[in-house]
Amino acid sequence: MRDLNIDAMRARQSRPSVARVYSYVLGGRDNYGVDKEVGDFFMGDLPGSELLAITNRQAMLRAARNMANVGIKQIIDMGCGLPTDVNVHDELRKVHPDARVVYVDNDPFVVAHGRALLAVDDNIAVFEAEVGDPASIAGNPEVQRLIDFDQPVGIIFGAVLSFLEDKEDPAGVVRFWAERLAPDSRVYISHFRTGHTQNREAAATERKILEAFGRGTWRTDAEIEAMFGDLELLPPGVQPCAEWQPDASAVEHELNDYELLIVSGIARKA
Ligand SMILES: C[S@@+](CC[C@H](N)C(=O)[O-])C[C@H]1O[C@@H](n2cnc3c(N)ncnc32)[C@H](O)[C@@H]1O
Repeated sequence: MRDLNIDAMRARQSRPSVARVYSYVLGGRDNYGVDKEVGDFFMGDLPGSELLAITNRQAMLRAARNMANVGIKQIIDMGCGLPTDVNVHDELRKVHPDARVVYVDNDPFVVAHGRALLAVDDNIAVFEAEVGDPASIAGNPEVQRLIDFDQPVGIIFGAVLSFLEDKEDPAGVVRFWAERLAPDSRVYISHFRTGHTQNREAAATERKILEAFGRGTWRTDAEIEAMFGDLELLPPGVQPCAEWQPDASAVEHELNDYELLIVSGIARKA
């Protein structure tokens, strides 16, 4: 019989989690009161800030579609977050019904929900790991079973490297994967951005994220570009998620302050 670790469960419910607050802001239902409180602060006190999450998620799904359209049939989604209506494997499988996806997150709540909702067949795996420990991810049996590094692979870092501090070497994490990838693989990064919007709203958003989650590193466009290392950064380069490879249906508009706070880019292994 398994031991229930009640203290660990209580501790998890008394602290907001990035994944649950993000999911709440996106309209999800799997959260606790403490997550709702933080999410309500963003949506109530910083109206419009939900666009930071919404445009991030939409750009990440466009990136998965982009990978599928260039022939990629296998993706590792790092810091995958809680499932939403559409997820990486849904996008990939519109083009490649036999596509394989590995979802990784360090939040056990995400892994439990992911296993129930995302792992719909044997070609999808969900497991708990630290993005900052890429060797443990590469060595995980599920990665070894599902990902063939002799073929192009897509690696997605959707708003997760923002939760690594400089001393955890996020660029080194990207390099670890880049060195293992076959030609024509893709790496997608979205990231909190600093240096463009120095107003009260931006400062309050940064402060609240740090206060709520104890983490959150905001980097400049140049620092984010540098994370791609020797990979070939593809057009349009690093751009606000809201404007990154927009759908045909996207309406051109002036970005609000929050839409300027998150950027993304995709790079190719030559
Ligand atoms: C803002 S959410 C983004 C979710 C998803 N990638 C997306 O773009 O829609 C960040 C996710 O990264 C996870 N995360 C944060 N730090 C992590 C780490 N060091 N290792 C693995 N996952 C992490 C969180 O639990 C959360 O699910």
